[in-house]
Amino acid sequence: MQSMAHYLPVSRVARLVGQPRSAIQRMIHDGELSTFDGMVDMNELLRVFPDVQWEDDGEFKRVEEIKAKAFGKRVYERALPDKEVLAERLYELGKEFAAAKSLLLHYDEVFRFLGDKLDDVAESGGAASVDAVAGLKQWLKRELEAAPGEAERAEALLAQESVMRIMSVQVTVQPSGHEFFVEGNDTLLEAALRAGIPLNYGCSNGNCGDCKARLVSGQVKKVHPHDYVLKEQDKANGAILLCSYTPITDVVVEANVSGAEDIPEQEIPTRVKAVEMLNEHLAALHLTAPRSQRLRFLAGQRVTLSADGAEGEYFVASCPCEDRHIELHVRRDNRGFSRKVFDGLGKDDGVLITGPRGRFVMKLDSRRPVIFVAWEEGFAPIKSLVQHAMSLETAESMHLYWVADKDGHYQDNLCRAWADALDDFVYQPLDRAPGAAAVAEAILARHADLARADIYAAGPDAFLKALEAGALARGLSPMGWHGEIVL
Ligand code: FES
Repeated sequence: MQSMAHYLPVSRVARLVGQPRSAIQRMIHDGELSTFDGMVDMNELLRVFPDVQWEDDGEFKRVEEIKAKAFGKRVYERALPDKEVLAERLYELGKEFAAAKSLLLHYDEVFRFLGDKLDDVAESGGAASVDAVAGLKQWLKRELEAAPGEAERAEALLAQESVMRIMSVQVTVQPSGHEFFVEGNDTLLEAALRAGIPLNYGCSNGNCGDCKARLVSGQVKKVHPHDYVLKEQDKANGAILLCSYTPITDVVVEANVSGAEDIPEQEIPTRVKAVEMLNEHLAALHLTAPRSQRLRFLAGQRVTLSADGAEGEYFVASCPCEDRHIELHVRRDNRGFSRKVFDGLGKDDGVLITGPRGRFVMKLDSRRPVIFVAWEEGFAPIKSLVQHAMSLETAESMHLYWVADKDGHYQDNLCRAWADALDDFVYQPLDRAPGAAAVAEAILARHADLARADIYAAGPDAFLKALEAGALARGLSPMGWHGEIVL
């Protein structure tokens, strides 16, 4: 039997072949992989990736494990859904299987009928029609019995895709077009935030209704009860709460993606998880937000920290995709909150976060090459942005330059781990000694064409000015420049 047309979404193709989504998108852009309505035909996939072993998900696991290691935590945890969700996914898959089987039975009937009709035609015609019909029947028989060219690989691919659809389902957000996967029992909201997509929300536990969205297609299941009451009219229009539901099948939802201006100021009482000395002058403060009150912020934003009347403003150095964990880098300066940290702020002490503030945030829809530049402690917001870009998987390539004195690259190993984990990630530590203008020039000299790039740079004003002027002179679009002064 010849294989029927079977189309797969680009995100799932990326997972099946163990490549980042941006790499698949580039192949489509370069004409190496063709799509139909944004979907990839299974036969095209088999043609373009002749060497992929579809029998196991080794490639996918390998990439996920490397990424998890690079993040230093289990951001990409891949858990089984609970048995109720699993049962519903299997039921849905069973329905598809039943539909395919009944279609095949129907085809069988049609072929039998066709055979009878051909016999009738042969009987009523002369010797020539008997020969023609016999030839045609033989050909049909041969074609139906012959195994399709790539039967084994096609079967393995379909089997692997089915397993993936049980383990995780795909969500497409309208109108933004963002796509992400939901693993295990995650709610739609949790999965979106993990994937770096800042969907609108408030309480994250079913009380406020801010995460209300519309289910356009597919099926969902309530996994957390909610106190917020959805009106009958809303329900009739497909309204769901993203913080309460998990998808059973691939779904399309209509939901708002927030920008910096949509995020309200919050007061979050956190606890110190650890104070880690990064070097003699700098500490990484690791805070944990309460389960029911995670800090809503975008990568690249800053917050005010206060404890016992001491106060200071810092950039968040962690990614919003990290759930309740918040990391900030605090310089020793004997004043305010810094003094508090270096005078012995300890595990489980309370720290109040107020914020977030700032517009130094990622352009979510950009598929262009991204250049990140940090001058010394400008690394904190850049670190958050890099991790956000890694979760989004949309940037065509990433370059990270970190300018500091010889002891100043205090998380050098982490940056090297990112470069090892991702094919299109280049990390270059640079010495600050030559001065702002010379360093800016050295960075820009490595990029012949900036017309299609986005630059995110954090550092002192003089350095940012030199970098921006040089980049614009080399063709960077003014829309591609994102600078944040960090003293
Ligand atoms: S975020 Fe408040 S109800 Fe979902």
